[in-house]
Amino acid sequence: MKGMIFTEFLELVEEKFGLVMVDKIINQSNLDSEGIYTAVGTYEFSDMLQLLTHLSNNTDISIDDLLLVYSEHLFKALLKTHPNLVDHYKDPMDLLASIENHIHVEVQKIYPEAQLPTFEIEDRTETKMIMIYKSDKALYMLGKGLMLETFKSFKVPVNIEVEKLNKIGTEVRFTINRS
Ligand code: HEM
Repeated sequence: MKGMIFTEFLELVEEKFGLVMVDKIINQSNLDSEGIYTAVGTYEFSDMLQLLTHLSNNTDISIDDLLLVYSEHLFKALLKTHPNLVDHYKDPMDLLASIENHIHVEVQKIYPEAQLPTFEIEDRTETKMIMIYKSDKALYMLGKGLMLETFKSFKVPVNIEVEKLNKIGTEVRFTINRS
């Protein structure tokens, strides 16, 4: 998993819960990286799962809710570091429809070691889009959050339903309705 996902996460934990909490979750975890991350590095996904799990236990906030909050912060960071990837989109639905064949394709070129999810479009009309998320990381709540942020950035109201296609959430159907 790319380092910026870790550095932005720890920055948010510090902002919301303080440096003591950052130290606490790092110490509670058995981290491959020993808690040292740089934006350009690549680290084990199991590190992220441990940090998230300990933050969830210490704060009594579910991992799903933590991922939703994190997606707000991450979306801003992704736009700031890669503005050229999203600048020319005029519509949030077009942007989301282009993750698979444009945005994440470019991301993969910049970071060849990135492990990205797939988003297949199952159906699309003017106001509605159905996307199938697949990733062994099961970070679908991060995906939902990034979709909500995308719509928010265009000031377009939306409703997004999440339907797990298997128990662990490595396959998920998103029904996106522009209201
Ligand atoms: C400027 C736009 C974007 C950039 C630069 C970007 C970049 C990235 C990067 C670097 C990762 C980490 C990969 C790794 O750690 O190996 C990632 C993961 C991810 N991205 Fe994007 N992304 C963008 C937009 C989006 C949007 C709009 C969505 C909305 C659904 C999305 C969904 C995800 C998800 C769910 C993951 C987590 C990995 C997984 O589930 O397997 N991304 N992205």
